[in-house]
Amino acid sequence: MKSIYLDNAATTQLAPEVSEAMIPVLCEVFGNPSSTHSLGRKAKALIETSRRDIAKLLGCEPRSITFTSGGTEADNLALRAAVKDLGCRRIVTSAAEHSAVIASSEKMSDLYGVEVVHVAHHSDGTVDCENLRSILATGPLTLVSLMHANNEVGVIQPLDQISKACKEVGAYFHSDTVQTMAHYHFQLDALQIDFLTCSAHKFHGPKGTGFLYTHPRNKIKSQIVGGGQERGLRSGTENLHGIVGLGAALKLAYEGLENHSTHIRSIKKRMVEGLRKIDKGITFNADSDKESRLYTVLSVKFPPHPNNGMALFLLDLEGVACSGGSACSSGATTGSHVLNALGYHDTERASLRFSFSRYTTVEEIDYALGAIARVFAPVDV
Ligand SMILES: Cc1ncc(COP(=O)(O)O)c(C=O)c1O
Repeated sequence: MKSIYLDNAATTQLAPEVSEAMIPVLCEVFGNPSSTHSLGRKAKALIETSRRDIAKLLGCEPRSITFTSGGTEADNLALRAAVKDLGCRRIVTSAAEHSAVIASSEKMSDLYGVEVVHVAHHSDGTVDCENLRSILATGPLTLVSLMHANNEVGVIQPLDQISKACKEVGAYFHSDTVQTMAHYHFQLDALQIDFLTCSAHKFHGPKGTGFLYTHPRNKIKSQIVGGGQERGLRSGTENLHGIVGLGAALKLAYEGLENHSTHIRSIKKRMVEGLRKIDKGITFNADSDKESRLYTVLSVKFPPHPNNGMALFLLDLEGVACSGGSACSSGATTGSHVLNALGYHDTERASLRFSFSRYTTVEEIDYALGAIARVFAPVDV
């Protein structure tokens, strides 16, 4: 049976070069990085080499990188640190954020009485910066948490404008960059953003590994206590092979970035053109077909059709894996909070997300288009 994987915003396959870097570490470097003997020191050295390599690729100081179990933990850590250590009494975020940010801000509200405010969006899904400015004009010390690229519809937020609006009033700024890190260049320390998050499995690295970037000016404290690893910021024996895999995946991604993005953009264009040929009534949520959107994601809205409710399942039967929304929680697609928040939800029309990687081929796109044409074939009414 065919297996066409078009769900790379949910996760990506491990790059062979990354598993090659990880396996010797997994099998041979079994010392605890906190041990003082030579095996322990070897393990510790691998972590610090990864940290330095990552920092160099991203234009920041190594001490700004705190390894975590992925994007969710990094988002949680940023929001908690902003409230508990930096004294923020308000979080300004959006109803279209990843659930890691939405649930963390709600938690901060429940636990510490922090006010949570949602910013407005323009009809194309971008944040209304004037609305953000007017919210920030009054009120207590604030953390603004707005993602770089949305994982469901691919809209990219103007980080520079948001960061400027924050700096004008002394607000802190966290951005969930899980979908863009390794897909776009960053110079982190120059960005003037307080916190950013990264997850290795979104760019052909291992699952369960990521990091929080913290601008050096922000002095945050531990949220997970114990043995004091990660300079006291995140206790627990480090995921050594995962950290090495993260470093290898990021290096590989940045070395090939121009080629990868050119390839993925052409694949996406082929998909857009193919879809338009299948049905002129097909549209793209948040202008996800446009060049200015996240090049790995295409959010497609199909015209009314009897197969709408079954489309994901029928495509899966055809061997095409895609998504109806975010697959982060359980794989269940219970309706998308992002489509709802941005006003794209439509009970009559199915929305599907196709997301691509450097491994996606032209042949796979053509096969997927054929499968889509079969699932959404015209019916007599
Ligand atoms: C935008 C965004 N933030 C955070 C996460 C969570 O990352 P992780 O799976 O590493 O916990 C995801 C995963 O889908 C995501 O797309």
